[in-house]
Amino acid sequence: AALPALLCAMPKAELHIHIEGSLEPELIFALAQRNGVALPYASVEALRAAYAFTDLQSFLDIYYAGASVLLHEQDFYDMAWAYFERAKADNVVHAELFFDPQTHTARNVPMATVIHGLARACADAQAKLGVSSALILCFLRHLSEAEAFDTLEAALPFREHFIGVGLDSSERGHPPEKFARVFAKCRELGLKLVAHAGEEGPPAYIESALDVLHVQRIDHGVRSIESAELMHRLAASRMPLTVCPLSNVKLCVYGDMAEHQLPALLAAGLCATVNSDDPAYFGGYMNANFLATFNALPQLGAAEAYTLAANSFEASFVDDAMKKAWT
Ligand code: ADE
Ligand code: ZN
Repeated sequence: AALPALLCAMPKAELHIHIEGSLEPELIFALAQRNGVALPYASVEALRAAYAFTDLQSFLDIYYAGASVLLHEQDFYDMAWAYFERAKADNVVHAELFFDPQTHTARNVPMATVIHGLARACADAQAKLGVSSALILCFLRHLSEAEAFDTLEAALPFREHFIGVGLDSSERGHPPEKFARVFAKCRELGLKLVAHAGEEGPPAYIESALDVLHVQRIDHGVRSIESAELMHRLAASRMPLTVCPLSNVKLCVYGDMAEHQLPALLAAGLCATVNSDDPAYFGGYMNANFLATFNALPQLGAAEAYTLAANSFEASFVDDAMKKAWT
């Protein structure tokens, strides 16, 4: 009975949240009205009813449509601020936010508009909520590496506002090695490196994210469970996996939460963490993810709750002094 209260109350870091995936249907409609953007859905209810996904791509199609209402700096601020208020309520003390600039620059929204709006919300989250944060720029892997290079060049004038780069969008058919050169460039620039791998894609994509891209965290990574050798490597190196349980069920990576492999990942000594991915689309924020996971998986108890919170700080990109203060 005390476990749900512990899960909610414990301080935690969120390391896998696409800020565009925090856009709630109500805010999508409010921004559509404010900006005069037409939506192919009649109401908030009709939009929410469309959130029945069969795989990653069926989600991404709706997710990119939802982001079309974001035009002005204040829109990006409002989206991120709404997320930070939810994070605060879930006792998230630190958040590393992904953003997808190509989704916006493709609609002629300037890079400065995107980054300045998000960075202003991050500054206010620290000042008004005591929540620390950082931004991670993601390249869309269904687009070309040349387009990723263009995006990096457009973002470099705002280098002080983001700590690293990631790789997201459609995984199958777009292996990490497609982005070897742009990640090498980012590595030279001293950016932190992460990539989605092993969500829908095979364990080999996790290996190439490590060996070719030299990432410092794997986003999702749940398909590592299929390779005993890879599991040993991830455990021995304490390579973090940013696992997203509600996302995995909504996108049919698992048929049911009871089938989720988080307990096995923890039991094998991996640095697994719990995260919300796209909370407005997948049924909840951080505490909803913890509650759903622990409710469905009796192998998870207070010891695992503590481990997951500690892992979230260990896996974060904050400096060691901050990590010590939190653990
Ligand atoms: N973009 C937003 N959410 C994503 C996910 N779960 N996988 C890949 N790309 C994404
Ligand atoms: Zn993700």
